[in-house]
Amino acid sequence: MQSLAIIGSQWGDEGKGKITDLLGQKCDVVVRYQGGNNAGHTIIVGTKKIVLHLIPSGILHDHCVSVIGHGVVFDPRAFKEELEDVKRGGIDVTPQKLRISENCSVITFYNKLLDGQREAKGPVKIGTTGKGIGPAYEDKTSRKGIKLKDLMNKEVLRAKLEANLIEKAVLFDHLYKVDYPAVEEEVEKLFELGKLIEPFLCDTFSFLDESIQQDKRVLYEGAQGVLLDIDYGSYPFVTSSSTSAGGIYTGAGLPGKYVDEVLGITKAYTTRVGEGPFPTELFDEVGEKIQRIGGEFGATTGRKRRCGWLDLPLLKYTVKASNITSIALTKLDVLSGIENLKLCYAYEYEGKEIDCAYPGIDLAKVKPLMKDMKTFNDDFKDNNQSSELQEYIDTIEKAVGIKVGILAHGPERSEIKFKQDYFQ
Ligand code: IMP
Repeated sequence: MQSLAIIGSQWGDEGKGKITDLLGQKCDVVVRYQGGNNAGHTIIVGTKKIVLHLIPSGILHDHCVSVIGHGVVFDPRAFKEELEDVKRGGIDVTPQKLRISENCSVITFYNKLLDGQREAKGPVKIGTTGKGIGPAYEDKTSRKGIKLKDLMNKEVLRAKLEANLIEKAVLFDHLYKVDYPAVEEEVEKLFELGKLIEPFLCDTFSFLDESIQQDKRVLYEGAQGVLLDIDYGSYPFVTSSSTSAGGIYTGAGLPGKYVDEVLGITKAYTTRVGEGPFPTELFDEVGEKIQRIGGEFGATTGRKRRCGWLDLPLLKYTVKASNITSIALTKLDVLSGIENLKLCYAYEYEGKEIDCAYPGIDLAKVKPLMKDMKTFNDDFKDNNQSSELQEYIDTIEKAVGIKVGILAHGPERSEIKFKQDYFQ
């Protein structure tokens, strides 16, 4: 196997980070291809805690090259902070180790401001991370976006920012009634930040092309989860990028190849941050217990995550939507000992029973049909699983039609069991 994608199969926060760390060690190149600094991946280096938002986790390994593909929306201010943080953690970040596409779309101050104003005052609250992700993707698709390479040329940058602000100024002045910096101020800031970013810029498409020709092992590091995908997700409560495996082909490039294996990281239960329907959400003390034991707080915003039972119709759908070939089942320790364990095997929707969610379905209107599962009390001290846990895993595999290749019951290396070899 030469290429592997790590994809969140739910609403994000499935524990992709720790698995990416482990498999990243076996790779030559780790690539981010979508999203921006809305992602959050906490790692402990020695006694220091570092949260990676934008920089791929390959940066932790000296032999790895980390690539930020053109599908990523890039906040230069956030990058500066993260770079300083990572360096303070004792990690070496050189232009040889980090390659950033010169065609990444820039998140400007105006994008961030607009995101915040819409969330605070707009008619529909999505519960965004407030990082300006949606407005930056809007600029990109409406062909008004600013690319990283534009930061190197003040005239080009000024002209693009001026054009870009024409419509936003109307919104800031008249709809949201909020102050915003003058174009010249933003030009100066972005131009300065451009100097910091310039050494890392390259044509990442050609770099990946060469890497693939040279049989290098490539890991594609997805952010968020398939249910937050702009096309496949629970629209409109989604992020603005292609979080499914399809995003790899548009956001980074895999010249001449298909990705060999798509590993869907799946939490043993379900969580969601932000607004939007959540069929198996728990509103009782069981949900609170899972939230507490699982430490379910967002790494980017610190918000409490909503918790619920595992939802197989959604998982079956995301496996299909993202061509997931095997599953890593994470946070099993959190469910150990939980009484009256349940999982959702189907929905009742418009008078019919369906066992696979599909796009267009109104998740607010489904009735989840629950199956009682036996409580498992595994302490995970050895490689054996109790028959109750095995039944939980078997039920998932049978429903989605693919194997669980990894079982995780904690963030440490010793707490992640590989049943399948990836990059052997
Ligand atoms: P945005 O990506 O900031 O525009 O937020 C859109 C939706 O995606 C909101 O519901 C966020 O809570 C959610 N979201 C964005 N990034 C993440 C993530 O890394 N984990 C979980 N949810 C996320």
